[in-house]
Amino acid sequence: MENNYESTLVLLKPDAVRRKVCGEIIARFERKGLTISAMKLLTLTPEMAAEHYAEHKGKPFYLGLIEFITSGPVVALVLTGPNAVKMVRNMMGATDPANAAPGTIRGDYAAIMSKNIVHGSDSIASAEKEIAIYFTEQ
Ligand code: PPS
Repeated sequence: MENNYESTLVLLKPDAVRRKVCGEIIARFERKGLTISAMKLLTLTPEMAAEHYAEHKGKPFYLGLIEFITSGPVVALVLTGPNAVKMVRNMMGATDPANAAPGTIRGDYAAIMSKNIVHGSDSIASAEKEIAIYFTEQ
């Protein structure tokens, strides 16, 4: 399908805000042709973080991930465009920055797994669930 328009949830994690690279990263998404449908700066509560990462509860990295993602403000965005979920995942690069190809966001901006700079929904179903954590219909 050529114009498979969908929306995805992106978080620019606390390391992106601290390092002042949010503008550069958002510019990449816009340059690619994705539309910003919603955007805000917020600090996740532990409850929001637990809801977002519920499927990972109990994994060895879970507590560190929750501590990190609540450690400062994040920028939450809804990006919309053709095949947006896959497009954003491709642009982000591998979860572990050590394996992320140069030219991807993690490949260019991140060095370690626990500070991998960006989150993008991994499926349309996850995107719908995650968007509802951060944004209302308005
Ligand atoms: S799994 O077990 O394969 O489903 O996990 P994975 O998809 O690789 O990662 C799920 C999210 O956890 C983050 N993660 C970590 N954060 C901190 N430290 C460590 N060691 C770590 N390992 C995984 C990973 O970045 C994923 O979060 P998002 O927000 O989607 O990037």
